[in-house]
Formats: sequence, C-alpha cells, structure tokens
Amino acid sequence: MTTYRIAPSILSADFARLGEEVRNVIAAGADWIHFDVMDNHYVPNLTFGPMVCQALRPHAVTPEGQRVPIDVHLMVQPVDALAQAFARSGADLVSFHPDASAHVDRTLQLIKAEGCQAGLVFNPASPIDVLEWVIDKVDLVLVMSVNPGFGGQSFIDSALRKVEKLRKIIDASGRDIRLEVDGGIKVDNIRRVADAGADTFVAGSAIFGQPDYKSVVDAMREQLGR
Ligand code: DX5
Ligand code: ZN
Repeated sequence: MTTYRIAPSILSADFARLGEEVRNVIAAGADWIHFDVMDNHYVPNLTFGPMVCQALRPHAVTPEGQRVPIDVHLMVQPVDALAQAFARSGADLVSFHPDASAHVDRTLQLIKAEGCQAGLVFNPASPIDVLEWVIDKVDLVLVMSVNPGFGGQSFIDSALRKVEKLRKIIDASGRDIRLEVDGGIKVDNIRRVADAGADTFVAGSAIFGQPDYKSVVDAMREQLGR
C-alpha cells in the first residue's frame, strides 16, 4: 500500500510570516515542507537561501514535536556548494536538476555524504536517461509538471506519461525511491497524478492560496483515498 505524502511549497506562502506559515501548514496536515530555491540564473526568479532554511528548521515540527522533513528543491547552477550549504542548514532531502550539475554522480554523492536524501529533478522537456546510471544513489525523483521558476502555473499533461515511465523504472529497481510531482497540482487533478504512479505531491498555490489550509489538504487526501 502506498503512503502518500503532501508537500506544500512555501513559495506561495506569506514571506513576511514564513515560520508561522510553516507551523500552520504542518498543523493542517502537511507531511513535508517543500522549499523552492531559485537563483535568477538557472531559473528567472530569486527566492531564499540556506540561512532561511536554517531559520525555519525549528518551525518544521509537528505540534507534538516530531521533525517534519524539509524537502529542498534546488533550481540553481552550479549546484554543489549550495547543495552542501542546505544539507548543513537543516534540509532532509536535497534535489537538483541534473542538467544544472557538471557531474551528477558527484553531486549525489556529496548530498548523501552530508547525511541527506538525494533527488533528481526532471523538467517537462528533459529526458530521464541519466537516472539509469545513478539510480543506486537516488532516494527521490521529482517530475516537474510546469517549467520551473514560478508558482501558480498550469499542469503540463505530458508529465503524466513521464511519471508512468518512472514508476516502472523505480519498481524494477526494487529500491525505495519516492516519486514526487511538482507544479499545478490541485484537488481536482491529484488523483490522476497518483494513478500515473506518483506518491508525493507538491502543492503551492492550491494550498496557500486558500484561507483554510486544512480543508485543502483534507480534500487532497480524500482524493487519494487515504
Ligand atoms: C516551481 C516550483 C514549485 C511551485 C509549485 O518552480 O518548483 O514547487 O512552487 O507551485 P504550484 O503548486 O502553485 O504550481
Ligand atoms: Zn519545487
């Protein structure tokens, strides 16, 4: 049985109240906190760095005090120095775009050596063949269902075919690898994304764009059936 995870992206949160937003969305049922790092080079937008991650780390706990994973999505180039900085600033998972790293295997090793889980991110038009050569070092595959850089964009349907393909590759590997989808996920399409084979769902504007985060997270879980 699949354990589904919902990872709200704080890209759509109120940046003036980030700690409170993280606590509120966890109280609403978030499993992970998705942390979008943009450098105005790999993508045409600029967000936050390791110091903000470090400042939020104490807020990423359940009301009972249990640690909630911070899922860092690096949209930066070069990757290595920042990957390491985030690993040392409280990240639990660090994912990067393979086309942004000169040496993908080295970057994966570096993230794992810091004690984090490592992920590869594939853009809507990116091939996935690199995965074959490094799958033994990957803990997470993140499929972009929008072009990276901004929240609030529409879901690109070809991502579903990519997810189906990756689900087969992951199952065949026999490894415990999360398959996450990011971009344009809402209550009304999350079921389709799960049916294609995803088990982890990023949602930014769908959650933070509503006054009651819990009602959105609950509605998503209802769609997922658990
Ligand atoms: C886009 C980011 C996404 C984004 C998702 O570059 O990686 O995580 O915040 O936002 P929504 O859910 O609004 O598409
Ligand atoms: Zn993201």
